[in-house]
Amino acid sequence: MNLSAKMLRDNALADKVIVVTGGGSGLGKAMTKYFMELGAKVAITSRDLDKLQTTAQELETETNGKCLALQCDVRHYDQVESMLENVLAAYGKVDVLLNNAAGNFISPTERLSANAWDTIIDIVLKGSKNCTLAFGKHWIDKKQTNTNILNIVTTYAWTGSAYVVPSATAKAGVLAMTRSLAVEWAKYGIRTNAIAPGPFPTKGAWDRLLPGDLKDKFDLAKKVPLKRVGDHQELANLAAYLVSDFSAYVNGEVITIDGGEWLQGAGQFNLLEAIPTELWDMLEAMIKSKGNK
Ligand code: HXC
Ligand code: NAP
Repeated sequence: MNLSAKMLRDNALADKVIVVTGGGSGLGKAMTKYFMELGAKVAITSRDLDKLQTTAQELETETNGKCLALQCDVRHYDQVESMLENVLAAYGKVDVLLNNAAGNFISPTERLSANAWDTIIDIVLKGSKNCTLAFGKHWIDKKQTNTNILNIVTTYAWTGSAYVVPSATAKAGVLAMTRSLAVEWAKYGIRTNAIAPGPFPTKGAWDRLLPGDLKDKFDLAKKVPLKRVGDHQELANLAAYLVSDFSAYVNGEVITIDGGEWLQGAGQFNLLEAIPTELWDMLEAMIKSKGNK
C-alpha cells in the first residue's frame, strides 16, 4: 500500500484561493504543498516570516504553484484583518480558510501560570475565532458563496486529555464553533468542517509533546490499532477533499483520521486485545461450562 499516493485528479483545486494559518511547517506545510499541486493559489501565514518565505519558495519550486508568505499572529484581530487584505490584494479573492495554527505543550495543569494557559487558548481558540470572524464577515459582505472553513482539531476535543488541558479546552471550543457555524452560515454558502488527526509526527508537535527520550518511551504507534502513525499525505488527501467542491454536501462534520486510536482508549473491553489466541479456547470453555447457572 502506498500511503503517500495522491487522491484527487489534476487541477481539482484550480480555481481556489486558500489561506493556511501555520502553513510554514509540519502538517500545514504538507497540506499547502498538495493544494498547490492541485492548482490552488495558497497564502501561508504565521509569526515567523523568514520560515514562511523559505517554505513558500521551496513549495513554488517543487510544484510550480503560487504561494504567498504573510506574517500574521492569529492572536491579534488587526493582524488577521491586514493579512486578509494582503491576500485579496495579491489574489483578488479568497475561497477557503484553513485554521491550522496551534500552540501546545505537555504540563501538569497545576504547574501552569495563568499566562501559559492563556497563551494556548489565545493561539488555538481566539486565533481560529479571529480568522473565522474576519473571513466570514468578508464573504458575507461581498455575498461570495461556495466558500469554506476547515478547522484542524484533535480527538481529545471530545474526550479531553490530561496534561494538555489548555489545548483540549481550546480545541473543544473550535469544534463547537465548527458545528455552530456550519448551521448558522450555511445560508451564506459557507461550509464549515473539521479534521481530528491522530499522531502525525512533526517537529513542532513532537518537540513539545514528546521531548527528549519520551519519544522512545511512549511510542505512539503502539496506541493505534493499525500500529502506525499517519503519513502527511493521508491528511493532505482528506483536507484537499474537504476544501474542494467534491465535498459540497459535507457541512458541520468532524472527520477523525487516527487509525482508530481514540476508540482503542475508549472501548471498555479493548484491553482483551492482550489475550493470546491460545487462551481463548480455555476462556470459551470456562464461560460455556457455567451454562445457565
Ligand atoms: C509550562 C510553559 C511551557 C512549558 C511555555 N510556558 N512553555 N509553561 N511548561 N513547557 C509558559 C511560559 O513560561 C509563559 O508563561 C507562557 O507559557 C507563554 O510562553 P512564551 O514562550 O512567552 O509564548 P510564545 O512565545 O507565544 O510561544 C507559544 C508556545 C510555543 C505555545 C509556548 O511552544 C510555540 O510557539 N508553539 C507553537 C507551535 C506548537 O506549539 N506546535 C505544536 C502543536 S501540536 P509565563 O507565566 O512564564 O509568562 C498540537 C498537537 C495536538 O497541537 C495533538 C497531538 C496528538
Ligand atoms: P507545527 O508545525 O508546530 O504547526 C503549528 C503552526 O502554528 C506553526 O507553523 C506555527 O508557526 C503556527 N503558529 C503558532 N502560533 C501562532 C500564532 N500565534 N499565530 C500564527 N501562527 C502560529 O505542528 P503540527 O503538528 O504541524 O500542527 C498543525 C496542526 O495539527 C495544529 O492545529 C495541531 O493542533 C494539529 N494536530 C497535530 C497533530 C500531530 O500529530 N502533529 C495531531 C492532532 C492535531 P510560527 O511558529 O511560525 O508562528
